[in-house]
Amino acid sequence: MNIAVVGTGHVGLITCVTMAEKGHRVIGTDVDPDKLQRLNAGEAPFYEPDLQETLTRELSKGSVRFVADMAEAVGDAAVVFICVGTPQRATGEANLAAVEESVSRAARHAPSGTVIAEKSTVPAGTARRLREVVKRSRPDPDVTIEIASNPEFLREGRAMADARKPDRILVGTDTEAARQTMRDVYEPWTAAGCPLVETGIDTAELAKHACNAFLALKISFANALARICERAGADVTAIADVMGMDERIGRAFLNAGLGFGGSCFPKDLKAFDRLAAELGYEFPLLREVQRINDEAVDATFRKVAEALWNLEGKKVALLGLAFKPGTDDVRFAPPLALARRLVDAGAAVSGYDPEAGGPALREVPELEIAADPYECAAGADCVVACTEWDEIARIDLVRLGKAMAVPILVDARNLFDGTSALDAGFTYYPTGRPAPVIA
Ligand code: UGA
Repeated sequence: MNIAVVGTGHVGLITCVTMAEKGHRVIGTDVDPDKLQRLNAGEAPFYEPDLQETLTRELSKGSVRFVADMAEAVGDAAVVFICVGTPQRATGEANLAAVEESVSRAARHAPSGTVIAEKSTVPAGTARRLREVVKRSRPDPDVTIEIASNPEFLREGRAMADARKPDRILVGTDTEAARQTMRDVYEPWTAAGCPLVETGIDTAELAKHACNAFLALKISFANALARICERAGADVTAIADVMGMDERIGRAFLNAGLGFGGSCFPKDLKAFDRLAAELGYEFPLLREVQRINDEAVDATFRKVAEALWNLEGKKVALLGLAFKPGTDDVRFAPPLALARRLVDAGAAVSGYDPEAGGPALREVPELEIAADPYECAAGADCVVACTEWDEIARIDLVRLGKAMAVPILVDARNLFDGTSALDAGFTYYPTGRPAPVIA
C-alpha cells in the first residue's frame, strides 16, 4: 500500500522504515528540509538500534523516500500517519498546532478514501476537532477523508523491535471503511500473530494516556516505597520482586531509582491531568506521581550533599546522562536535573554517557563531558550512577575508585552489588535498600 508519514522524528521515522520493510511504499515528509536531505542521503538523525541499517537498506530498495512537498507525499496515500510533535504548553496541555496544520495540509492533497491516522500522542477529543479541520480544508462533498487514532506504544532504545513486534496494535475508527484500510495496513503484523484491538476513536486516544500514566504510577510507587525503605532499613528491590511474583501486579516498571524522564511520561502526565480537569474531573493522583518523581532526584541530591557536606569546590561525577539506556535522548532526563542541582550548589560536575554526552552538554553547558567513565571519575569526590547502561553496570569498580580523590559511590539505579563496592574501597550509598556492612 502507499503510505505517507508526516513528521520524521522518533515515531515518524521508525514508522517509515518499519512500514517499508513490511512491504509498503512509504513517503516521509517534514517541515525541516535539511533533515529530509540527510534522510535521503541515508543518515539517521538520532540513535536507535538497527535504525541506521534499516534506513540504508530500505532506501536502496526504493521502498522509502523523503520529500518536502506535502502534495507529493500524500497524493497517492491510502493512509497518512501524523507523527508530528505535541510539545507541552506552559499551562501543561499538549500544543496541537502542528497536528492541526499537518492534517489541514494533508487533507488538501490526499485522494478520496484516505485515512488520516494520528500516531502522535493527543488528548481524547482531538479526532473530533480534526474532522472539522478536514471539512474546512477540503469542503468538496464528493471527497471522503477519514480520521483514525493509532497510538504508538514504542519505547525509545527499543523502538525498532517494538515497531516490528508490538504487544498490541490499537486502532480507533468510526467507520467500517477506515477500519478495513487500517486492517490492510497492519496485515503483515496481524498475520504474524500480533493482536489488533479495534475501538472507537476517543477510547483509543484515552488508552494511550492511560497506559503511560499507569506505567509512571508504578515507577513512582516504587520510588515512594524506596523512601520508606531507607527510613525502615528495608530493601525496595526485594519488595518489588515479591510484588512482581503476584501476576496481578507484575515486576516491570517497579525499579526505584532516579525516576522517569523522556519525552513521554512527564509531558503525558501533565496533558492527561489538564484533559481530566477540562472534562470536569479532578485527578490529583497524576500530580502526585510527578511530585514523587521529582522527589527521587531530590533524594539522590541529598545523599550526595550528606556524603560530601559542603558541595562548593567538590567534584561530582555522573555516570549516565540519558533518561534511560539505549538512547541519546536527554529530554526531561533525571541525571540532568541532578546535574543542575549540583551545579547550583557550587559543585564541579563531570558526566559520561555512551551516547548522550553531546546532547547533555547542550542542555547543561557547565558539565565537563568525559570520554570514558574513568576519566569522568578522575579526581572526583563522589560518583553517582545515574543511567542503567550495561557498560556502566560492568564498570571496573577498583579502577574507578583508584581514579577518584575520595571513593564515594551513590548508586541511584541500584546497579552494583554493595559488597563488591565495599570490597573496591567505596563508601556505598544504594537507593531504597540498606548498604551492606563489612563483617
Ligand atoms: C514510554 C512507554 O514505555 C512507551 O510504551 C510509550 O510508547 C512511550 O513512552 C511514548 O509515549 O512514546 P519511553 O519514554 O521510551 O516509553 O521509555 P520507558 O522505557 O517507558 O522509560 C521511561 C522512564 O522510566 C525512563 O526514564 C526509565 O529510566 C524510567 N523507569 C522505567 C524507571 O525509573 N523505573 C522502571 O522500573 C522503569
